[in-house]
Amino acid sequence: MIEKVAKQILESKYMTALTGAGISAESGIPTFRGEDGLWKKFKAEELATPSAFRENPELVWEWYKWRMEIVFNAKPNLAHNAFAELEKMGILKMLITQNVDDLHEKAGSKKVLHLHGSLRILRCTACKKRFEIDKPPIEKLPKCECGALLRPGVVWFGEEIPSEILREAIKHASMSDLMIVVGTSAVVQPAASLPLIVKKNKGLIIEINPEETPLTNIADISLRLKAGEAMDKLVKLIQEL
Ligand code: APR
Repeated sequence: MIEKVAKQILESKYMTALTGAGISAESGIPTFRGEDGLWKKFKAEELATPSAFRENPELVWEWYKWRMEIVFNAKPNLAHNAFAELEKMGILKMLITQNVDDLHEKAGSKKVLHLHGSLRILRCTACKKRFEIDKPPIEKLPKCECGALLRPGVVWFGEEIPSEILREAIKHASMSDLMIVVGTSAVVQPAASLPLIVKKNKGLIIEINPEETPLTNIADISLRLKAGEAMDKLVKLIQEL
């Protein structure tokens, strides 16, 4: 089966990828909805919403600094490296990720679209100024030069994905004749609808996930495998073909 996927990838004209938290699980970054997922231990509405930040910015900042510590010290795994290789080979045209970690970039991917923002970015709640960071802020409540509170540059529940980012993602999905979907539970919109655009245009959907998801029965092939193992095997097969 994986040989068939390798062949389809090689024959593709415009391959894109959609990744979720599962691709970073093997790098030690917790996912959201698995057994040991973040939303089992923490309440998303208390930590990842605009109202949570308004009511208790210290708590939200404490949680994000904890996540930044994990993410900024994490290393890309075989799956991130495989996608960077496929981009270098000119096969992967765009990687769309729901993740706010920077492991795709750390692995060498250049064409990455962050639907939900990035923990590497802080932005001002007043003047909208943005700051790139590579370690968690030390202050309890990080402030902008203008004096207002800074917040993580991520998209919270109840917030819209910036329209230019979403437009770009839809454009690449519409051009795809193959989309490989790795490590996402495919329940959060609008990300989960991107593969449906590919399907509508008669493109191929390849899913890689140890568990079934709502995408599984519309995928042309669904590999019940972990990202690292599957992507590493795929790149090696493609390099041999
Ligand atoms: N390899 C591949 N997939 C894996 C692995 C692995 N090693 N480990 C877990 N998975 C799969 C799980 O089976 C699950 O389907 O990764 C998926 C992770 O799902 P979620 O935790 O829901 O993460 P994601 O789909 O990225 O969540 C989407 O929800 O909370 C918001 O904004 C947040 O971007 C996030 C969005």
